[in-house]
Parts: sequence; C-alpha cells; structure tokens
Amino acid sequence: MEINILYTKFERFWHWTQMALVVILLITGFEIHGNIQLFGFDFAVRLHNTSAWAFIGLTALTIFWMFAVGHWRNYMPTRKNFREQIRYYTSGILKNEPSPHADKTFDNKFNPLQRIVYLGLIILAFPAQIITGLLYMYFRYPGNPIDGTMLRNVAITHTVIAFLVIVFLIIHLYMTTTGKKVTTHVKEMITGVSDHAITEKQELTQQISDK
Ligand code: HEM
Repeated sequence: MEINILYTKFERFWHWTQMALVVILLITGFEIHGNIQLFGFDFAVRLHNTSAWAFIGLTALTIFWMFAVGHWRNYMPTRKNFREQIRYYTSGILKNEPSPHADKTFDNKFNPLQRIVYLGLIILAFPAQIITGLLYMYFRYPGNPIDGTMLRNVAITHTVIAFLVIVFLIIHLYMTTTGKKVTTHVKEMITGVSDHAITEKQELTQQISDK
C-alpha cells in the first residue's frame, strides 16, 4: 500500500489562489457592472485591475508549469468511461453508486467530463476573459480603434463569460461535496493526498488500462 498523492504543492497553491482571485474578480466585476455595492466604484475598478494582473500572471505561470512537468496530459479529453460518467451523474450518483472514476491517481485524476470542462476553461473561457479584459482596460475611451459597437461586444462577451464562471462555480462547489464524505474532495485539495491509499496492483492496472 502506498499513499495516493493527487495534488502537488504548486497545484494546490494554484487552485486556491485562482479561486480567491476569481471570487474577487466576480465581486468587483459585478460592482463595476452595477449589480452590487460593496467597495465603491473607484476602489472596485482598482481591485479588479490589480487582481486581473495577478490572474494573468498566475495563468501564465500555471500553463508554463503544466508543460514543464507534463501535467497537461491530465486535461486531454478521453472517451474512456465517458458514457459511464454521464450515466453516473444523471442517475448513479442519486442511488449512491460508486463513481466510475473512484480510483483517481496523480496522472489520471480527472474524469472525462472534468477533463472537458477544465480544458474549456483553460483554453477558451480564461483566455477570452483575459483578451476582452485587456481590450476593455486599454481601449475603452472614445476615439480608440475599437470604440462603439466593437467595445460593446467586448463588454458583453466579458460579462457573459463572468456569468458562465458563476455557473461553473455553483456546479463545481456542488461536485466537491460528492466524495465519500461531504468534505473528502476539499480535504484532498488542501492536503494533496487522497484518503484512500492505492495498492501496487491498482497502479499497475491503471497503467495498463491507460495504454
Ligand atoms: C474570471 C475572471 C473575470 C471575471 C469574472 C470578470 C468580470 C467582470 C465583470 C462582470 C465586469 C463588468 C463588465 C461590464 O459592466 O461591462 C468586468 C469589467 C472589467 N474587467 Fe473583468 N473579469 C475577469 C477577469 C478580467 C481580466 C483577466 C481582466 C484583464 C485585464 C479584466 C479587466 C476588466 C476591465 C478593464 C473591466 C472594466 C473596468 C472599468 O469599467 O473600469 N477582467 N469584469
């Protein structure tokens, strides 16, 4: 039996820092949008811009890290267990059946649906949010090459993605509670270690079935 390490220190640092930044960006973003009042408009703009730069830095660092250590492989879509996973989320989970991806390991920690959603966030939603955010930051004054309708579209895209991020967060938060115990998955992301050890046999089976 050996300890089943799931997340390195860097992954946990990245995950929790990203979460804090996204929450700050959402709150300040919706204050700028006019939906809530918390910090006051000027401070919300400053906080949004500063957190946006931190978010850009963290995203760049993480993408570099993923390629440097080969971690990108965890995010590659797979058809293996795809239908089983959908069946699990639409019925098995309600009957307390075990997840088809219960034996997660360091190199295969996400189920097929998680892979698609996380990949979509990393290569579509976040880059689009960063690009529209930068356009907003530098070209929002009249007379710039992208003022008028184009700037309106930039603003709308930025806001639509913000709503999608909220939808993701709600589903993601719910999913964190669906482990063996309500706190199992959150504990894993804090300690980095799965609460069940893996046997050498399990690891070998995993490696063979991945090939
Ligand atoms: C998950 C990440 C983010 C979320 C949820 C988010 C959300 C929002 C929202 C809801 C608004 C208000 C839009 C409007 O009223 O039209 C906004 C404004 C803005 N965002 Fe973001 N944002 C994020 C990331 C970024 C990034 C990476 C940048 C990069 C520079 C950025 C730059 C801006 C700017 C410049 C504004 C306008 C501020 C102003 O009017 O002075 N945002 N954001």
